[in-house]
Amino acid sequence: MSVKSLVAAYNELTKLDLRILRVIEVAHRKYEWVPIEVIVKWSNRSWELVSKSLKKLNALGMVIRWKGNYTGYRLTYTGYDALALHTLAKRGVIERLSPTPLGVGKESDVYVAEDPAGNKLVVKFHRLGRTSFRQTRRFRIWVGDRRHITWLYESRLSAHMEYKALVMTYNAEVHVPRPVSVNRHAVVTYYIESLRLIEVKRGLSNPDDVLGTILDDVATTYREVGIVHGDLSEYNVLISLEDETPYIIDWPQWVPRTYRNAIDLLRRDLENILKFFEKEYDIHVDLDIALKCITEGIEAGELELEEAFEKMLGTKELREYVLGEESEESIEKALDNIEKEFSETGKEEQEKVKMKVLEKEKQETEKSSDSSDDNPAP
Ligand SMILES: Nc1ncnc2c1ncn2[C@@H]1O[C@H](COP(=O)(O)OP(=O)(O)OP(=O)(O)O)[C@@H](O)[C@H]1O
Ligand SMILES: [Mg+2]
Repeated sequence: MSVKSLVAAYNELTKLDLRILRVIEVAHRKYEWVPIEVIVKWSNRSWELVSKSLKKLNALGMVIRWKGNYTGYRLTYTGYDALALHTLAKRGVIERLSPTPLGVGKESDVYVAEDPAGNKLVVKFHRLGRTSFRQTRRFRIWVGDRRHITWLYESRLSAHMEYKALVMTYNAEVHVPRPVSVNRHAVVTYYIESLRLIEVKRGLSNPDDVLGTILDDVATTYREVGIVHGDLSEYNVLISLEDETPYIIDWPQWVPRTYRNAIDLLRRDLENILKFFEKEYDIHVDLDIALKCITEGIEAGELELEEAFEKMLGTKELREYVLGEESEESIEKALDNIEKEFSETGKEEQEKVKMKVLEKEKQETEKSSDSSDDNPAP
């Protein structure tokens, strides 16, 4: 991506630029590289305007141009980020975004954000392809050949899967970040002032309580919610700075407990946590006993993954995750909606919901750039 921050790049977009990004997104259902003729036709704007916008989007790193036997464009993650931001801002979910990500994880970029009321939030943009996403491959049955742009639907599926798990566990009073919203590949939750368990290391004042809460939460997740996290470790537990409550994060790879390998995943989750507490605090909890307590009275699952999900979520809901929110909508209808959303008259073209920069972060960024010696002369 260019050196511009996501929020700066996003703020440069006009309604027309967003409209063109949206057209490309819809056209990806048919084309891997969307022909420029199609973009011109579907965006209902002149060749000149569209070309100018594509050039700008390309410079901002939001689309990539391809020249083969025709000229085509595809969205990049940054372009997809911009579309998600636009929707989240328009819905009033977020108003400000940090200029730089809080963290760049294996499979995500995580930003701090704020809603209009000033609540501190986290926006996690899912990125697939950095490492492989085990789960999606199994969903081919629902995906069929509709999706050749795998990163696009896989990142969206990953986000929707994570959101679903957060809602289910949060409602069961498991300690997880409170889910706020999901759009495309972006999950929004409340921010937790915290350190990861791996960073806290031996700094817990009540390690027994912390381990107890984690084990209770794993049990509730298995017994009441009926799922297994599948990637639990000291890296995916946040310890609240306020009161040491442990919050379990990072849920996209969860599986229903009816899945035939669920118990192995549960065992591994528990093993990671118990090993950590054994090593850092010399607290010994027997893995087999813990596993037995959690699974007691519940029959082990025997279903294949797809079947297990189908049973848990129902085919309709599952299809919604896998195929995305507008999959059942025809391309014509989607284009119609774009027309409604991005119709421009005169000055209005410049108007859209702008994203503000999180002030505190901005001041810090300014401070650090003030103190650097290589400020260009005015
Ligand atoms: N709700 C939250 N509040 C505060 N910080 C958060 C929150 N959610 C995520 N983070 C921070 O973002 C990091 C990455 O989040 P997460 O583990 O969900 O993504 P990931 O793609 O798996 O990243 P990683 O590869 O680092 O595990 C976390 O380790 C944590 O530092
Ligand atoms: Mg993680």
